[in-house]
Amino acid sequence: MGGYAVQLAVDAGATVTATAGPRSRDRVRAHGAHRLVDYTATPVADALAGERFDVVLHLVRNSPEETAQLVDLVADGGLFVSTATPGPRDAGRGIRVEQVVVRTDAAQLAGLVARVDAGDLRIDVAERRPLADLAAVHDAPSPAGCPARPS
Ligand SMILES: NC(=O)c1ccc[n+]([C@@H]2O[C@H](COP(=O)([O-])OP(=O)(O)OC[C@H]3O[C@@H](n4cnc5c(N)ncnc54)[C@H](OP(=O)(O)O)[C@@H]3O)[C@@H](O)[C@H]2O)c1
Repeated sequence: MGGYAVQLAVDAGATVTATAGPRSRDRVRAHGAHRLVDYTATPVADALAGERFDVVLHLVRNSPEETAQLVDLVADGGLFVSTATPGPRDAGRGIRVEQVVVRTDAAQLAGLVARVDAGDLRIDVAERRPLADLAAVHDAPSPAGCPARPS
């Protein structure tokens, strides 16, 4: 999700600070991020302490306390969006807090597909496996950062 978010934000004209560990650093840079924070070297909230951003997109499940530290990075009147640990109900300073959950929007998906077809949105394929492997792929342990698949 972060890779798509970086590409779409850069395309929208945003100045993007992204988090990436060593394994995805080059990929995220290639997506156009203007600045990278290596979360494996320094916690993100510490690395960016004292800075403020118009929008903070939160894609990693962590503790409510760590999430609150990330909300501190949002500028007054800015936006905090999470797909993982929810932000606080009332963050103060005019900050809007949103929780994004999967939803079906055919028109939005078609728009994304059009961007992929046009070469404006890149999909990183981690691995190619035959369809017969589908069950094994689903049974594989979740990568770091992903919640376990419901059984
Ligand atoms: N709410 C919803 O509807 C919904 C839908 C889909 C996914 N999700 C959630 O959204 C999140 C992102 O999904 P995804 O599929 O993109 O997951 P993903 O492929 O596992 O990517 C997460 C990325 O976060 C980075 N990361 C891990 N720990 C970090 C930390 N402490 N600080 C900063 N970055 C860190 C990793 O970067 P490196 O590769 O550089 O190590 C990893 O590539 C997950 O938490 C997932 O559960 C929610």
